[in-house]
Amino acid sequence: MSRILVTGGTGYIGSHTVVCLLEQGYDVVIADNLSNSDLRVLDGIEAITGIRPPFEKTDCLDCEALGRIFDRYSDIEAVIHFAASKAVGESVEKPLLYYRNNIGSLINVIEQMNNHGVKHLVFSSSCTVYGQPDSRHLPVSEAAPRRQATSPYGNTKQINEDIITDVAHSKADFRAVILRYFNPIGAHPSALIGELPNGVPNNLLPFVTQTAIGIRKELKVFGNDYNTPDGSCIRDYIYVMDLARAHVKAVEYMLQGKADEQVSIFNLGTGRGLSVLEIVKKFISVTGANLPYVIAPRREGDIEQVWADPAKANKVLGWKADTPIEDVLTSAWRWEQHLKKIREKKA
Ligand code: WQD
Repeated sequence: MSRILVTGGTGYIGSHTVVCLLEQGYDVVIADNLSNSDLRVLDGIEAITGIRPPFEKTDCLDCEALGRIFDRYSDIEAVIHFAASKAVGESVEKPLLYYRNNIGSLINVIEQMNNHGVKHLVFSSSCTVYGQPDSRHLPVSEAAPRRQATSPYGNTKQINEDIITDVAHSKADFRAVILRYFNPIGAHPSALIGELPNGVPNNLLPFVTQTAIGIRKELKVFGNDYNTPDGSCIRDYIYVMDLARAHVKAVEYMLQGKADEQVSIFNLGTGRGLSVLEIVKKFISVTGANLPYVIAPRREGDIEQVWADPAKANKVLGWKADTPIEDVLTSAWRWEQHLKKIREKKA
C-alpha cells in the first residue's frame, strides 16, 4: 500500500488524519519537530489503530534532514503538509517567524518531493484566505475572491497557495490538492487524541472546555454587537474527524488519477454557520457543564461571519462533513475530561 509522509503529523489535525490514513490501510511516516505537539500523541494513535507509525523528529526548515526522510522511505507516494505555525494573533506579533516557518517549510517539502520523484501534495490551507467575504459571497465557495489577508498567518497561506500553483506550472506531472479549512473542533470519539493547545487557548472550543472543567475562570465572548442575529460572530465549525477523512479522500483523488486539474482547491466546512453564543448554549445543553461566560469587547482582527459552501468537495471528493454539532461538542468535552484524568494521575 502507498506510504504517505505527514508533516506536522503529531499535531491536532495531523494526528486525526494519521488515524484515518492507517485505518484505510495506508502506510504513514510522520515528520514533526514537536514545537507544538507531544510524542504521547503516538501512544494515542497506536491505542486507536493498533499501529505505531514511524516518527522522524524533524524540522521542515532543515532541508537536508527532510531529504533524508525521503531517502529512508523510498515508498513515499504523497505528502500531506500540515507543519506550520497557525495562531493568528501570534503571527501579528511575530511576522518573521511565521514567514520563515510557513514559507520556508513548504519550499523545502516541495524541493525534496521534486528531488525524490514524489508528485502528489495535499496542502493544509485556510478559509482565512477569503478574509471577510461580502454578503453576496456567503456561503463562500472556491470561486469567491481571495482578499487582502488580515494577518501574517493568513498571508502565508495565500503565498503558499501561489507557490504551489507556480510549481505546478513548472512541472507538468506535479499534482496538488489545496484544502481550505473552516473552523476545526472536537476530538476522536475515543478521547485518546484531541487538541492540545499550548498555554492559554486562542481558539473558542478549547477555551470553552477548559472553562467548563475549571481551568479558566470564565469564557469571554468577544463581542455581541456584530451584524448577526444574536450579535456574536458566525463560523463554520467542522468536526476534526470529518476534516481528517477529507484528507484521505484528497490523497485517493490524486493517487487514483482522478485529479483533472494540476491544482485542485476545496473548501472544507459543513455549509452551516453557527454563532459563538449558539455554540456556548449548545455546549451547555449537551454536556450539562457549568460554563460561566461574559460578553467582552470585540477581538481585533476577527471577521464577522464566514461559512462554507462545501458543494465542490461533496461532489468531487465524495466527502461530506455531517457529524451533528451535538456529537462534536460532546467529543471535545470528553477529551477535556480525559486530559483532567491524566493530570490527576500525575499529581
Ligand atoms: C472563533 C470565534 C472569536 C475565543 C481560526 C483559526 C485559524 C483558521 C480559521 C485554520 C471568533 C470567538 C474565540 C474566545 C471568543 N483556521 N472567540 N472567545 O478566529 O475563526 O480562526 O479558524 O487555519 O487558524 O485560528 O477561530 O476559535 O479563535 O474564534 O468569543 O475565547 O470565537 O471572536 O468569533 P478563528 P477562533
